[in-house]
Amino acid sequence: MSKELYTDKVMDHFMNPRNVGEIPDADGVGQVGNPVCGDVMRIYLKIDGGRIQDVKFKTFGCGAAIATSSIITEMVKGMTVGDALEVSNRHVADALGGLPPRKMHCSNLAADALLAAVNDYRVKHGLSQIGEPAGHGAHQHEHDAADADDAEAGRPPCTLRVDGKCVDPQAGGVPARKARIAGGG
Ligand code: FES
Repeated sequence: MSKELYTDKVMDHFMNPRNVGEIPDADGVGQVGNPVCGDVMRIYLKIDGGRIQDVKFKTFGCGAAIATSSIITEMVKGMTVGDALEVSNRHVADALGGLPPRKMHCSNLAADALLAAVNDYRVKHGLSQIGEPAGHGAHQHEHDAADADDAEAGRPPCTLRVDGKCVDPQAGGVPARKARIAGGG
């Protein structure tokens, strides 16, 4: 990840991600992924009295995906469930001081995983799902650019490919970007 392209805050959350891990007895769990690049994010919520008491994440993804995962956990901890539903991918990017345009799509993962986790909580409580994901349609991955970021940071490129594309971890159960794991396996 090129430092010139990213704010200090992005680099801080990429290098020192907050709230990494899982919550075994989570009240809501949301996972989203993209079959094109294989990046996956999972968010765990502990909710009490309608308020998010704890939040953890695991992300297989690029540096921006890890930074957006980290910052969204800080943003929503202590929020009401209703307020958390208002958090958009734009809010996430703004909280990091901005993202390069070609990496804006990475912020969709964080917002969508949060929405999925809140909806998981709602369904478990007999409520209907609400909200529209920021959208996988907008989540156009630039795989070559992501690989270039890896090479620049000295990380190995993704090696799990089929026909030149990352394996879909949700289809195969294998994280495609294993080398970039944040939060363990
Ligand atoms: S989340 Fe897919 S390249 Fe960043």
